[in-house]
Amino acid sequence: MSELEALKSELQGLQVKALASIKEVENLLGLGILRVYYLGKKGKLTSVLKGVGKLPPQDRPVIGQYVNATKTALSEALDSAESLLAAKEKQQRIEAERIDTSLSGRTAKRGVLHPIQQGLNEMTAIFAQMGFDIAEGPEVEDEFHNFDALNIPQEHPARAMHDTFFFEAPKGQQAKLLRTHTSPVQIRTMKNCIEAGGEPPLAVVAPGRVYRCDYDVTHSPMFHQIEVFKVDKDVSLAHLKGVLQYFLSAYFEKDLPIRLRPHYFPFTEPSAEVDVGCVFCNHKGCRICKGSGWIEVLGSGMIHPNVLKSVAIDSDIYSGFAFGLGVERLVMLKHGIPDLRLFFENDVRFLRRMGA
Ligand code: DAH
Repeated sequence: MSELEALKSELQGLQVKALASIKEVENLLGLGILRVYYLGKKGKLTSVLKGVGKLPPQDRPVIGQYVNATKTALSEALDSAESLLAAKEKQQRIEAERIDTSLSGRTAKRGVLHPIQQGLNEMTAIFAQMGFDIAEGPEVEDEFHNFDALNIPQEHPARAMHDTFFFEAPKGQQAKLLRTHTSPVQIRTMKNCIEAGGEPPLAVVAPGRVYRCDYDVTHSPMFHQIEVFKVDKDVSLAHLKGVLQYFLSAYFEKDLPIRLRPHYFPFTEPSAEVDVGCVFCNHKGCRICKGSGWIEVLGSGMIHPNVLKSVAIDSDIYSGFAFGLGVERLVMLKHGIPDLRLFFENDVRFLRRMGA
């Protein structure tokens, strides 16, 4: 076989092989490699061309034509394979990135308010609905607002009963303490009102933390109270009873009887402890109310003239009622929670149940 024939058949073989490979290649990367392998500078076709120099001069144009035809055939095959593969790969990418919007979403877990905060919000909202303003006072108090102005003088036994946490006071300065009740907010609000040139009527609800050095099943050194008071001309015990009746029925979500039992508080005169018909047995008498049908819920009374005097309100013109309730106690009664400490241990199983 002449050199020319040999080259021709080599080119033919190369074309057949190349076209077969181009048909089989599955992606653009592989196709690129094939292109370089056959048509690149150091590719197969170039190496065939090198053999052309060995041919007699008259054969060279003939083989030149062959080489060009092969080159064109391969380029065309490569180009059309490239556009097919590009389209295929684009389609695959679109498929892979597709978002299935018909899948149902994962529900995000939401936190809930602590049961005490829920209780505070519920109770405060009932008073706000009745037209009471919301006020707050500092947790670090002084003896004047926590005791003296509330008619609990220095040597009064009620002062000792409060189990107060005191801060060490620098010499000559008034001792600071953690407030033992929210009643000092009464003093602060009335005083602020008068000092700003205002005058009653005042109707205020004051929620907040209070502190006492005490700890057992029903006592925690930190707990929450809500103080409620109203000062105006002609405020009477009947108003107090009406507000209590409305509040307790609204909070416990049922009509419950209430009764006022005479009691003693330094800051009210007369004073009364308030009982509500037992929420567990509907006033019939059970283990929890010890058969009496009544449960004690809060302390109340008509604001003592000395208290009004301490904030420069004329007790001949104005009178007022006040009461203070323990938030934990009411939440426990409403939800049948047996141990106060559950509120502060933050066991999520308890908190979840309360949040449902
Ligand atoms: N401050 C009292 C306490 O913490 C509760 C209280 C009783 C508040 C009678 C009042 C009231 O306003 O009139 O024990």
